[in-house]
Amino acid sequence: MSMFKVHFIFSVLFVVFGAALGFLGNGDTFRRKVSVELNPGLNPPSSLPPGVALVHARGLGLNDTLHFLLCNHGAPALLLVHSNSTESTVQVNWPVFINRSSPGSLTVAPESSVTYSSALVFTRIWEYDDVNNTADPQTTAESSFYTPYELQNFIWTDLNATANQSDHMITLCGRENTESFVNGSLCLKLSVFESAGRDGAWPSLLHNANSSQLHVWLDGLTPRGNRSRFALEFQSVADSGFQGRVDVRSSIDDEYTPSIFKMLMCGVFRQVFDWVSLPLNSSSVWGFSQWKPVAYRKATPVFEDATPCRNSPLVSVSRVPPSALVQAFFTHEPQTHGLNISFGVDKDPVLYSDTGYISWTVLMGMGKPPADSFSTLIIIIIAVGLCTPLAIIIVGGVFVCVRKRMTRSSIYEPIN
Ligand SMILES: *[C@@H]1O[C@H](CO)[C@@H](O)[C@H](O)[C@H]1NC(C)=O
Ligand SMILES: *[C@@H]1O[C@H](CO)[C@@H](O)[C@H](O)[C@H]1NC(C)=O
Ligand SMILES: *[C@@H]1O[C@H](CO)[C@@H](O)[C@H](O)[C@H]1NC(C)=O
Ligand SMILES: *[C@@H]1O[C@H](CO)[C@@H](O)[C@H](O)[C@H]1NC(C)=O
Ligand SMILES: *[C@@H]1O[C@H](CO)[C@@H](O)[C@H](O)[C@H]1NC(C)=O
Ligand SMILES: *[C@@H]1O[C@H](CO)[C@@H](O)[C@H](O)[C@H]1NC(C)=O
Ligand SMILES: *[C@@H]1O[C@H](CO)[C@@H](O)[C@H](O)[C@H]1NC(C)=O
Ligand SMILES: *[C@@H]1O[C@H](CO)[C@@H](O)[C@H](O)[C@H]1NC(C)=O
Ligand SMILES: *[C@@H]1O[C@H](CO)[C@@H](O)[C@H](O)[C@H]1NC(C)=O
Ligand SMILES: *[C@@H]1O[C@H](CO)[C@@H](O)[C@H](O)[C@H]1NC(C)=O
Ligand SMILES: *[C@@H]1O[C@H](CO)[C@@H](O)[C@H](O)[C@H]1NC(C)=O
Repeated sequence: MSMFKVHFIFSVLFVVFGAALGFLGNGDTFRRKVSVELNPGLNPPSSLPPGVALVHARGLGLNDTLHFLLCNHGAPALLLVHSNSTESTVQVNWPVFINRSSPGSLTVAPESSVTYSSALVFTRIWEYDDVNNTADPQTTAESSFYTPYELQNFIWTDLNATANQSDHMITLCGRENTESFVNGSLCLKLSVFESAGRDGAWPSLLHNANSSQLHVWLDGLTPRGNRSRFALEFQSVADSGFQGRVDVRSSIDDEYTPSIFKMLMCGVFRQVFDWVSLPLNSSSVWGFSQWKPVAYRKATPVFEDATPCRNSPLVSVSRVPPSALVQAFFTHEPQTHGLNISFGVDKDPVLYSDTGYISWTVLMGMGKPPADSFSTLIIIIIAVGLCTPLAIIIVGGVFVCVRKRMTRSSIYEPIN
């Protein structure tokens, strides 16, 4: 019994010690002043189609500005533009932007202050009949795929009800005008941050003032197959002269979820994927998209509602994605790459139709992707936490053996 007491005391000590160190070590105090505006400079008679909007979030730093633009004119896209001026503004030639989105109809001025830009575009939802129960679109026969839902054709609900200035969050919901979407919708929630922190809701990605987060969910869609599974296709656009790469890291920051030991057993949840963007002639990372390979099957999930997801390899896409924002902003033949995120795992008994819901979260920002300084520490804590009782058992075992031997020899001696 005392063995467990010792173990308990050790664990408590290490967790307290670790939390204190982690608290001190996580010292990213950089802040931006964030403000959000809708359709900057849009005046009648120009008007966007119903439900379509251009959201501009400005993150003002000491010497620079980070502009985040979210627009659902065409496929929904999030554009990040960094400017080394505090006076930079977003300028839209609205008639041209609405009509043809010609290159240059949306700019960040002065253009000479722009140091980096990149965009993330959600292009399609793929649906396939997973007859072999592999949850792997890459090994699934092409004949099992249904016509994908093209997000550029979606109709969107009015933004007014869903814009919240005070917490810098905007939600866009849209659907295709088909039978499957009668009760269904695809929603994107953008969050822009003033400082470093962590979202309360799972997967609780670490963020900083140079990043924003998109939470994507697919709710109430009627599947077309009996064993339908889904994948989300997204593309990343960057200036020419940049290259992309997907890095996988192991992380163990799941002390922020209540089921840390369960999480430990499912090693997959400890991974973090960073799709980084770096100049061709250098190895320093300028921008990133970051996600964890986990999706949730309920809007307010418990641990059992988490499901792994996987991504296909990066492919080069020759056409600029069908997003007005991207087509209007990028003028010099940008580079586009795409990948699919598919939900579910091999032999997974739970299908989309069982809950009618799936959600996934991605962080997008400039600079290096946020990483947990806490990880190594937690590994040490767990190693110590697990090894202490083991050591006690071994030491205790040896002690008991030695004592038994000594007692035995004292018993046998008189017979000799
Ligand atoms: C901002 O610019 C001023 C003067 O140009 C410089 O002294 C300061 O270090 C800069 N601050 C940051 C955070 O780059
Ligand atoms: C918009 O497009 C239509 C047809 O393509 C054209 O007739 C009209 O002149 C355009 N308007 C503007 C402001 O570009
Ligand atoms: C801002 O960036 C531009 C382009 O990279 C550069 O030419 C300019 O010198 C920079 N200005 C400042 C104040 O850093
Ligand atoms: C199911 O697996 C079999 C055998 O591996 C394969 O031939 C078939 O194409 C698969 N079916 C689908 C729809 O992927
Ligand atoms: C949306 O909000 C704007 C500004 O707050 C207002 O002018 C407009 O009438 C609203 N639209 C609807 C449909 O409520
Ligand atoms: C906006 O967010 C704040 C803080 O989360 C909340 O108190 C407020 O009720 C929200 N407003 C609307 C209209 O949702
Ligand atoms: C949509 O929901 C209604 C009411 O819940 C239901 O009667 C109808 O069958 C649903 N339609 C589809 C296509 O699932
Ligand atoms: C965020 O950007 C600012 C300005 O470029 C930079 O000083 C700061 O180090 C960045 N913070 C992180 C965590 O990358
Ligand atoms: C789905 O299952 C039902 C009943 O098991 C069957 O009649 C139907 O043909 C199946 N549909 C497809 C698309 O496989
Ligand atoms: C990388 O290339 C850019 C132009 O493509 C150039 O401005 C920059 O100086 C180069 N940097 C290095 C370290 O070679
Ligand atoms: C996504 O998956 C579909 C179906 O396998 C495939 O046709 C498409 O090319 C994939 N997209 C990307 C960007 O890999």
